Amino acid sequence: MTIKQQHEAIQPLDPKRFRQVLGQYPTGVCVITAIQEDNAPAAMVVGSFTSVSLDPPLVAFLPDRASSSWPKIQAAGKFCVNILGADQEDVCRRLASKATDKFIGTVYRLSPLGSPIIEQSVAWIDCDMQAIHEAGDHYIVIGLVHDLEIEQGGLPLVFFQGSYGQFSPLGLATAKERSATSV
Ligand SMILES: Cc1cc2nc3c(=O)[nH]c(=O)nc-3n(C[C@H](O)[C@H](O)[C@H](O)COP(=O)(O)O)c2cc1C
Repeated sequence: MTIKQQHEAIQPLDPKRFRQVLGQYPTGVCVITAIQEDNAPAAMVVGSFTSVSLDPPLVAFLPDRASSSWPKIQAAGKFCVNILGADQEDVCRRLASKATDKFIGTVYRLSPLGSPIIEQSVAWIDCDMQAIHEAGDHYIVIGLVHDLEIEQGGLPLVFFQGSYGQFSPLGLATAKERSATSV
């Protein structure tokens, strides 16, 4: 039985409920960048980035089959993952749009492999595309890490229940609370 047949055999799942329940899980926000044949940059925002393996060093992200930016990144055969900072919501909103000129106003330089590193990102991970797996209406793209660096560091941008926010460490909050009550 194929995955599609298995899915059809069980109760139909309400897509709204699927999104709502999965939205309870927070993600970081990354921009996947690449340079096209005409030297124009391509980019897509993803919340589906994850590390995969240390030896060999692999990472992954999941582009939608309907994405118009993914084929441009795929054609480059390599990509750079830019982890966005809490103060880069404007960069995120711009690059998540479908505008053809969405890179205007985004400052970048090229990574060792030649993909855009977005200025003031928290960190970047420079990859060669190692494998592309089909997964329903998405792909799972595996990258072999060639180089990586903390760029600006600091707090990452966080996406949760359809809104942007920033990470607040429980440890520090607890320490603050402790010092406020210990006098
Ligand atoms: C916070 C956030 C996370 C996203 N995560 C993904 C993702 O993991 N995969 C994906 O294909 N699109 C994701 N998107 C949507 C894309 O960034 C983009 O908006 C969409 O692909 C439309 O643009 P395109 O046609 O140029 O690709 C995300 C958007 C936002 C704002």
